Amino acid sequence: MKINEKTVKNILKQNNHDKSNLLAILNDIQAEYNWLPPQTLKIVAEALGMPLIDIYGVASFYHAFSLTPRGKHVVTCCQGTACHVRGAPFVLKRLQDQLGVDPGCTTKDEQFTLETVNCLGACALAPIIVIDGHYYGQATVQKVDGMLIQYSQKKTTKKTKSKKKRSPKTKRRAKKTPAKKAKNPTRKLLRKKVKKKVKKKSSRKKTIRRRSKKK
Ligand code: FES
Repeated sequence: MKINEKTVKNILKQNNHDKSNLLAILNDIQAEYNWLPPQTLKIVAEALGMPLIDIYGVASFYHAFSLTPRGKHVVTCCQGTACHVRGAPFVLKRLQDQLGVDPGCTTKDEQFTLETVNCLGACALAPIIVIDGHYYGQATVQKVDGMLIQYSQKKTTKKTKSKKKRSPKTKRRAKKTPAKKAKNPTRKLLRKKVKKKVKKKSSRKKTIRRRSKKK
C-alpha cells in the first residue's frame, strides 16, 4: 500500500502537531487508510517527538484502531446473549462460509473484514449485523447473501458534475443578449383589451366628426 506522506503531514497540521490530539490524529489516519499503516505511525512519532512504542501502545489499546489491513467493508456480527439465543451463531457461520474467512480476518480481495462483538446495545433487534456502520436487525441466514452481494457491488467513487466550459466568445454573447421573456398568457389578453379600447375610441371620434360636418 502506498502511503502519501503529505496527507499524514496535513492531518498533523490540522491537529496543530499537538500530543494531546494523538487520538484524533490516529482516527483521521484510520479514516484515510482504513487501518494504521506502520509508516504513518513513524511519521506521527517523529512529528510529535514521541517514542514510537507509546504510539503503538495507544493504537493497540483501543479496539476501534486496527494495526492490520482492513477490507473496504467491515462486517460485524453480534454474538451477545440476546443475539446468540436468536440464532446469531448460524448467521456468523453463513458469513464465514460466504466470505471464506474467520472472525478478525480480511478476504483476499480486501473487500470484506469479518468481526464479532459481544453486544451492540440494541438487543431488541437481535440478531444484529453491522456493515460499515449500518445496523441490520433480525438478521437471518437468508438475508446474509443479499447483503453481501449488495455491498460487493457498491462503488465508492464520488459523482462529479460535468460542467461544459464556455469559450470567451459565447460568454460575451451571453452577456449582450438578454434572456428571452417567458410567454405569459395574461399579457396577451391585456394587449388585446388595450387594442379594443383604442379601436373604440378612434371610431367614436370619427362619428363625432361626421356629425359635426353634417351640421
Ligand atoms: S446481544 Fe446483540 S445487540 Fe445485545
